[in-house]
Amino acid sequence: MLEAAKGYDPLLKRPLSIFRYNDGIIQFLYRIRGKGTKCISELRKDDVVQLLGPLGNCYPQPSGDFIVLAGGIGIASVFSLFEKYPGRAYVYCGSRNCEELLMLEDIKRLAKEVCVTTDDGSVCRAGLITEPFREFIESAAFSNNPLPIYACGPNPMLQVLSTIISDKKLECHVSLEEVMACGVGACLGCVCKTKSGYSRICKEGPVFKIEDIVWD
Ligand SMILES: Cc1cc2nc3c(=O)[nH]c(=O)nc-3n(C[C@H](O)[C@H](O)[C@H](O)COP(=O)(O)OP(=O)(O)OC[C@H]3O[C@@H](n4cnc5c(N)ncnc54)[C@H](O)[C@@H]3O)c2cc1C
Ligand code: FES
Repeated sequence: MLEAAKGYDPLLKRPLSIFRYNDGIIQFLYRIRGKGTKCISELRKDDVVQLLGPLGNCYPQPSGDFIVLAGGIGIASVFSLFEKYPGRAYVYCGSRNCEELLMLEDIKRLAKEVCVTTDDGSVCRAGLITEPFREFIESAAFSNNPLPIYACGPNPMLQVLSTIISDKKLECHVSLEEVMACGVGACLGCVCKTKSGYSRICKEGPVFKIEDIVWD
């Protein structure tokens, strides 16, 4: 949870994924969405901000090859996984247009295979990333060698993912997003529905097994 302004507006810290952590330096990768992220973008070298974290859980470490599905700024959450394990990830990465397609050269360098789509077709294959992802999951090559899946992106993308793999017994972990207030499990403002009741995304999550989520 990163402080978004020096004064009281906005009052609440904003949740961001730890994009990278190296030698005591934390990097964030974020999209300017509203007031908080705009304030964060105006920070300059030597400014001091409060940070509360790390909070919540993280993706389990993959033991072999794995698949990453990232939609939009969801790439910030999954990037460190395939940066840590170069040459092991099949990366499916979608964004609205070429301007919002981030880290592409690094993804190509680090991944085993890369598939990229843009909604408007401004670069790479046109359409939603869930389509080539579905083709891969339904291919004979994948059926013979099923791999764990790690995903982060908009809820509609995660729901499609859940449908695609619903009749397959696959290990799949998704990182969920919700507006957050306290970030530490106290306010219950960030709950999602799971098969065992409501879970706090900031505390029990943000990473969940996909089969545990109840999609509304
Ligand atoms: C665990 C977690 C990790 C995240 N990691 C990143 C990251 O690495 N990079 C990044 O760019 N963003 C990330 N986000 C999203 C980020 O927290 C929001 O974009 C940010 O809080 C928006 O704040 P704001 O003040 O700029 O916008 P606001 O003014 O608060 O909101 C602008 C609009 O966006 C909507 N909105 C705000 N937050 C969310 C949200 N979390 N989900 C859906 N809609 C929302 C609001 O309802 C409003 O319509 C993450 C969120 C979570 C929960
Ligand atoms: S943000 Fe308060 S419980 Fe999650």
